[in-house]
Amino acid sequence: MGCGTGPVCPVLATWPNVAKVVGVDPSPQLLDKASKLSKRLDRIEYVVEDGNSLQFDDGSFDVVVIHTLLTHVPGLKPYLQKHIEC
Ligand SMILES: C[S@@+](CC[C@H](N)C(=O)[O-])C[C@H]1O[C@@H](n2cnc3c(N)ncnc32)[C@H](O)[C@@H]1O
Repeated sequence: MGCGTGPVCPVLATWPNVAKVVGVDPSPQLLDKASKLSKRLDRIEYVVEDGNSLQFDDGSFDVVVIHTLLTHVPGLKPYLQKHIEC
């Protein structure tokens, strides 16, 4: 969530028990760059979405990783707490 171009998705995609990583960010420009930076990894999909209005079905993910997002977008925390089991 809020993956930007950062290293979290590529690192997770190298873990042996991770089948698929979906990087979510509202910026198509950042995700375009993220795609280019991780093009050698085939288990990553990048999806343009705002964390305030997620369109994924319930139960779509086993784990949601949020890294250096909430301090930058403080209003997001209540929404995510409502929709992600912590
Ligand atoms: C400081 S960067 C962190 C990027 C990455 N998580 C990392 O650790 O390298 C914050 C990211 O949050 C994203 N972001 C901003 N508003 C957001 C929102 N409403 N929902 C999801 N992501 C958002 C930005 O586009 C940016 O990529």
